Amino acid sequence: MEKYQIYTIKNVGETVTLNGWVSKVRNLGGLIFIDLRNRTGITQVVVRPESKDYEVASKLRSEYVIKVTGKVVEREKHNDNLASGEIEVEVDNLVLVNTSKEIPFQIVNDTTALEDTRLKYRYLDLRRESLKENFVVRNNITFAARKFLNNLDFLEVETPILCKSTPEGARDYLVPSRVNKGKFYALPQSPQLFKQLLMVSGFERYFQIAKCFRDEDLRADRQPEFTQIDVEMSFVDEDDVMEVGENLVASIFKEVKGIDIKLPLMRMEYTEAMDKYGSDKPDLRFGMEIKDISKVFTNTEFTVFKNVLAEGGIVNAIVVKNAADKYSRKELDKLTDYVKTYKASGLAYIKYNEEVTGSVVKVLSEKELECIKETLEVENNDMVLIVSGKYNIVKVSLGALRCKLARDLDLIKAGDYKLLWVVNFPSFEWSEEENRFLACHHPFTMPKDEDVDKLLTDKANCYSKAYDIVINGYEAGGGSIRIHDAAVQDKMFEALELTKEDIETKFGWFVEALKYGCPPHGGFALGLDRLVMLLCETDNIRDVIAFPKTASATDLMCECPSSVDEKQLKELGIKLDIEKEEN
Ligand code: AMO
Repeated sequence: MEKYQIYTIKNVGETVTLNGWVSKVRNLGGLIFIDLRNRTGITQVVVRPESKDYEVASKLRSEYVIKVTGKVVEREKHNDNLASGEIEVEVDNLVLVNTSKEIPFQIVNDTTALEDTRLKYRYLDLRRESLKENFVVRNNITFAARKFLNNLDFLEVETPILCKSTPEGARDYLVPSRVNKGKFYALPQSPQLFKQLLMVSGFERYFQIAKCFRDEDLRADRQPEFTQIDVEMSFVDEDDVMEVGENLVASIFKEVKGIDIKLPLMRMEYTEAMDKYGSDKPDLRFGMEIKDISKVFTNTEFTVFKNVLAEGGIVNAIVVKNAADKYSRKELDKLTDYVKTYKASGLAYIKYNEEVTGSVVKVLSEKELECIKETLEVENNDMVLIVSGKYNIVKVSLGALRCKLARDLDLIKAGDYKLLWVVNFPSFEWSEEENRFLACHHPFTMPKDEDVDKLLTDKANCYSKAYDIVINGYEAGGGSIRIHDAAVQDKMFEALELTKEDIETKFGWFVEALKYGCPPHGGFALGLDRLVMLLCETDNIRDVIAFPKTASATDLMCECPSSVDEKQLKELGIKLDIEKEEN
């Protein structure tokens, strides 16, 4: 078998055979032009009226399968949009291999068909070249990753899909056992515990292109079933793991896109990321940093800011450069509604032009307005947007707003990539819902050496040896050094208020393994789907997964999840009680 070939001007004079689908057929004054589509793209085929196959050609419709043999000739008029645009194939022999039902939507790159229709007929949607191209990128990424990791002696090992619950913090997908009625497997949220066990087994360097399953609320960059490039290594510290991680990512960028990523990547503390960008995955492709202007209002008469500050809150702002004239009152109301979805109580704005105008101009003193201008280095036609309130709400809402504004104002250069590590994550986060501290990562994450003694006494100030790799505002991957010391692990469990029974039933098997000469180890996982999204410059994860689920976790093509036979349920010892729950 030979490699695929795109025929070009170099092939003029050759006789070639093409198999493929009829993308388009046109009859122009007797000449029939067929756009034949195959893996390499489109090639134009011409059938002359005197051809023995003219009649077959005149019956062709979209998506019929054909086999064509003919001579490559130069086209009269070149088509610069096609790789094969300088040539066409003059038919000597044309065979109709198969017909097609009328297709439910036109197979073109810039389709206007509804996504639901395209998902129902995904196999047709995947005929679109722009979509197919994403899977070439996906293939090239996994190929580059395997090459890079193999060169460093990482061993690719598969871990179970039917397993016990793994601790990534989402809900599990459960699989009932027929042989052990009433018992369930969980699908892995990640291979986390198994890869750690491989370290206990002395494999030292492991990787896997691993399927993960998480029953969580879906977003544009989340699927219930996704893939990680999962890595773990022994006898390493944070710097070693981050070095492997960033070199892996850089080699993928180079091999797949020819882009040079400057290493080492910048590292930013979690606290700085939250302060300046209101996010633990800051998008650094544009500025608009969040600035704390609380000090300006130490003696303010404006009751809103005064009260917020008295209650320990903050007043923060972003400056939208040269945009004062671009935002009407109505548009600013929309921005206010936007920050309210992030629980902000409101959005104040000041437009600095010859005249200073805005929602809080009347309630702030001239000195305060001047002080804001100076602190934020405001220039003519800049707009200042202010949120006040509790730290987290202010930061997160302004963080989201700066990203929205950058998109709206087209501040992001196409093809620009900004990568960084976010490091020193807190070990715990406060849960308002549960009124206690929960683990920020999984409970096997190593705390910073200096924080081990504070695990039980000062949770708010404990940080962990965890790191995330962030690309263009996406969390592209994350990992940590793991706890390998049984005493520290016990302490961590205690800090998380896990009872002995909890530990025993959930992770007893795993904790036992840590007691048999567990080496120091750590690792990371890259979200493969997100990496493909970034390199394909799409913001829809479904564009890079061959058979994805909808936002409500359904597969419209095979219509799943679906009901099962009573008999199947009986075999599993399961009785459904849905009506009762719905009532
Ligand atoms: P984490 O949970 O951060 O870490 O996942 C690693 C990376 O996987 C991607 N990701 C997802 N992609 C698509 N859809 C989802 N639902 C989804 N959830 C996560 C993200 C994320 O950065 N076991 C640890 C890794 C480790 O510590 O080694 C883990 O799974 O890009």
